[in-house]
Amino acid sequence: MKITERPSLKALNSFGVEAAARLLIQLDSEEDVLSMPPFDPAKDLLLGGGSNVLITSDVPGTVWLNRITGRNIVDSNPDYVWVDAGSGENWHDLVRWTLEKGLSGIENLSLIPGLAGAAPIQNIGAYGVELSSVLESVTAWDRLKAGWTELSTGDCQLAYRDSRFKSVEPGRYLVTSIRMRLNRAYHPRLAYAGLVDELRAMGITRPSASDVSNAVIRLRSRKLPDPSKLGNAGSFFKNPVLPADRAARLARRYPGLTNWQMDQETVKLSAAWLIEFCGFKGSRHGDAGVSENHALVLVNHGCATGSEILALANSIQTAVFEEFGISLETEPELVSF
Ligand code: EPU
Repeated sequence: MKITERPSLKALNSFGVEAAARLLIQLDSEEDVLSMPPFDPAKDLLLGGGSNVLITSDVPGTVWLNRITGRNIVDSNPDYVWVDAGSGENWHDLVRWTLEKGLSGIENLSLIPGLAGAAPIQNIGAYGVELSSVLESVTAWDRLKAGWTELSTGDCQLAYRDSRFKSVEPGRYLVTSIRMRLNRAYHPRLAYAGLVDELRAMGITRPSASDVSNAVIRLRSRKLPDPSKLGNAGSFFKNPVLPADRAARLARRYPGLTNWQMDQETVKLSAAWLIEFCGFKGSRHGDAGVSENHALVLVNHGCATGSEILALANSIQTAVFEEFGISLETEPELVSF
């Protein structure tokens, strides 16, 4: 357990916004969790990789940094291998490690910033795959009951960029490790637009899981800004899901509106398309801006505060609502005290 007084949080959030706290305590092991002083949600903040938060005020109390590491194969049978990862493991390094072991299942989730413990919080997803397809269980410290608990995938209530940890009982659980069931045999999932084209551009027609990982890395690197160079938290809004008849009316009125049929009743619309239509792509308001490569990504050009980025997000929400009648939901956790 490492303790720092009056830390700056700038290097601890991928937006790179400045914020202060009274104390920073790094949790390196499950024993550290046991010796944690009481957590006060009104004053304290639990932070993983900081890649999915927008901090808009100082933290009056303590920031707990979850850095519990460890990755292990814990079980296997002829078809599957079960892998445990500490919540502080870097997600992308974990993906590459599973590929080196000849395992597949999370290759489409390559290069997602952040740590493994955050993966179930927002059920990370990309290129047609979500964590929910491989997650077996989550081990967490239950603050309510002051004891360890294991939650099955069902208990986690995973949905599109959502979970029990995020919206049902925020703050109750401190995730310390996740267990995934990965495949020995590779089952490619290449349906997401652009993936097959990218593989073709790489000269690959029968891809391995590692090839798909490399293709995803190329796609993401081209479209999404690298947070170590330009502060951002990936997609700032969720893609809105609408009843099919309403989506059809909008598609008739706005030809070109990108959308995906989810099931018979619902259609997902591209939030990036809506935002680009409203003229925000590449725009800049002081140091807060919208990426010129992807309209869904808000960026910090240097010294933007969290409040300035939030103000830009609010004006995007207003413009999209006035044009389309759609309320965009934010994806990152908004932190303010
Ligand atoms: N598009 C635009 N303008 C843009 C960018 C995209 O109109 O500036 C349209 C295009 O038609 C494009 C379509 O949106 O074909 C989809 O774009 P993209 O493939 O980049 O996907 P997305 O729906 O914008 C989602 C996830 C990303 C994930 C990608 C790939 C959400 C909120 N975001 O973005 O996740 O990487 O799909 O699977 O679901 C994240 O959550 O932080 C994240 C980056």
